[in-house]
Amino acid sequence: MRLLVTGGAGFIGANFILYWLKHHPDDEIVNFDKLTYAGNLENLSSVEKNPRYRFVQGDICVSKDVVAAMDGIDTVVHFAAESHVDRSILEAAPFITTNVTGTQVLLDASLKAKVKRFHHVSTDEVFGALPLNTPDKFNEATAYDPRSPYSASKAGSDHLVRAYFHTFGLPVTITNCSNNYGPFQFPEKLIPLAVTNLLEGRKVPVYGDGKYVRDWLYVDDHCRAIDAVLTRGRVGETYCVGGLTEDVDNLTIIKNILTIMGKDESQIEYVTDRPGHDRRYAVDWTKINKELGWKPENDFQTWLNLTVAWYRDHEDWWKRVKSGAYKEYYAKQYKSAL
Ligand code: NAD
Ligand code: DAU
Repeated sequence: MRLLVTGGAGFIGANFILYWLKHHPDDEIVNFDKLTYAGNLENLSSVEKNPRYRFVQGDICVSKDVVAAMDGIDTVVHFAAESHVDRSILEAAPFITTNVTGTQVLLDASLKAKVKRFHHVSTDEVFGALPLNTPDKFNEATAYDPRSPYSASKAGSDHLVRAYFHTFGLPVTITNCSNNYGPFQFPEKLIPLAVTNLLEGRKVPVYGDGKYVRDWLYVDDHCRAIDAVLTRGRVGETYCVGGLTEDVDNLTIIKNILTIMGKDESQIEYVTDRPGHDRRYAVDWTKINKELGWKPENDFQTWLNLTVAWYRDHEDWWKRVKSGAYKEYYAKQYKSAL
């Protein structure tokens, strides 16, 4: 395969490129990334000299650059997005531009290039929120009910991808997955933010009552799920992907991290809640399990221990990421805790 990976310098995209080069020794990858605040080529330093890997800096909203990058490509894996809910509450416009318009530009270029597969990486947040203490889970038939500018923009992109399948016959697949965690995650997201704050001797900001539930998916398990869909999935289909967590709330995760790191609960700081905060997500991944044989490799505790150890061992990486513009964002987002 010759893959165009959009957003490959971000958290999941970089993990995916490292995974794919390792597991598919005949394939070539072009990484097309704008390098926003979230894009970091350091994530890919181990493969930058690999002859099967090439980086192109570009914006998915700029058609001529996307069309040029698509030359010789047969498979598109689309990660590029504005991905952080809190930033979408501070400013929605870049989310609509990149996530909706950018996806449409990419779909048009993919049609023109007659790619064999367009895989769209989406989120469980498009389904809205579930009540606490119910057995309900999201699945492929769940109605869309996005509730933040971020999830609304991702819902828009999902609809466009399906529209290009139905209207133009573009061979698409979609995965809607839950919260990823693991190496190279930008420390604006809960787990890397908590671990790196604690390593810096700072407290962990917990929104509201902390009783918000997410479904946690280790990034390598996610990469294997995309591999399964790309190589064995049915065109036109959507697959939900989730982890091996049973309704673990944010406070429980933070306490778990405190234990792993030998700290006590005085390091928790309750801060102003996120507006419109979705109470609970849970993903039913029966379809991808039954059809493609995918399941997470390890349980949450095993992957969490490894994740904490990774940030402990890669202080240079996150210290560089947490300098500069990150500090301005942190001050704006967490003013109630400063
Ligand atoms: P991220 O924010 O870490 O990385 C996004 C990448 O996209 C960055 O490298 C950035 O430079 C690039 N990018 C942004 N705008 C661009 C543009 N206009 N043109 C080209 N590149 C651009 O995001 P992530 O956490 O790795 O998420 C990747 C994808 O997975 C996103 O589509 C996100 O919606 C989806 N997703 C993420 C999670 C999660 O928990 N992180 C869960 C479900 C779905
Ligand atoms: O569900 C998939 C989604 O998961 C992805 O589509 C998004 O790209 C990704 O950012 C993530 O969204 P969340 O909003 O769930 O992730 P975040 O890490 O921002 O927050 C996780 C939970 O932790 C959420 O309930 C909010 C809470 N939180 C978050 C931060 C950053 C806190 O309590 N304190 C914090 O400082």
